[in-house]
Amino acid sequence: ITEGETEEEGSGEAGDKLVIGFSQVGAESEWRTANTKSIQDAIKEAGHELKFSDGQQKQENQIKAIRSFITQKVDAIVFSPVVETGFETVMQEAKDAGIPIFLADRAVDAEDDSLWVTFLGSDFVEEGRKAGQWLIDEMADQEGPINIVELQGTVGSAPAIDRKEGFEEIIGSDDKFEIIKSQTGDFTRAKGKEVMEAFLKSDGGENIDVLYAHNDDMAIGAIQAIEEYGLKPAEDITIIGVDAVKGAFEAMADGKMNVTIECNPLFGPQLVDLIEQHFAGVELEKRIAVEESMYTMDQAAELLPTREY
Ligand code: AHR
Repeated sequence: ITEGETEEEGSGEAGDKLVIGFSQVGAESEWRTANTKSIQDAIKEAGHELKFSDGQQKQENQIKAIRSFITQKVDAIVFSPVVETGFETVMQEAKDAGIPIFLADRAVDAEDDSLWVTFLGSDFVEEGRKAGQWLIDEMADQEGPINIVELQGTVGSAPAIDRKEGFEEIIGSDDKFEIIKSQTGDFTRAKGKEVMEAFLKSDGGENIDVLYAHNDDMAIGAIQAIEEYGLKPAEDITIIGVDAVKGAFEAMADGKMNVTIECNPLFGPQLVDLIEQHFAGVELEKRIAVEESMYTMDQAAELLPTREY
């Protein structure tokens, strides 16, 4: 409870104003910016108090933030873990303090699922599968070998691990597809561009048929690198991204990107609803998925004005 508030305001009973600590991953992508805003707005609009911490993509910052939320005796913690492992100790500390944790967007890889109330987020493995299936369908008539370069998300993060797994599961069914290079671009445009430049230099752009980027920001950075190299993105190299942010729709409408798999960041209202249900005594499912779709180049111009993020 922050100074000046009464015991009742932060006591965490059903219908009360709650004090909610939110430890966010960072501000690495368009997706993340939209997600932060959605959660912040939903907490405030519901009349709760928000304590926000930007982890700047660093695990130690998130651990510090959670410890600070515990010291401040918040009612609930919303937590989007930058990587899957290494958070058990601090989550146990929150549990011992009687503060429920709601995992948002990213999961942790921990045995004891009593450390969190529920995990609300996308099915990243399914997103990887959708990307792989789109490629298989798109290249059904094309002879192999089809050389793919992959820009992975943050090393050790749930979306990087799962999107790789889902994609490989699907393309593994046809040996004409080969991932010839795979490296992290840390989910940022700048890194996506830098790593794509290195791929083009070492493999020769003409040898690369497909780019699979674990998010749109890295795909957009890579598109710049491909253009600077003198090739046409989406024509010479097929470009697959994930997120469905506005930047990807703009790139697709310009004919520079082929497809983006949706990962919906706008789940703030659903998250706040779940927190309130928990405090009203409702038993929540451990895993709640966000529904999403997939968008191709030919839909981009029409849908661009309707995109909210
Ligand atoms: O965890 C979701 C991922 O994190 C998004 O796909 C990516 O853009 C973000 O940085």
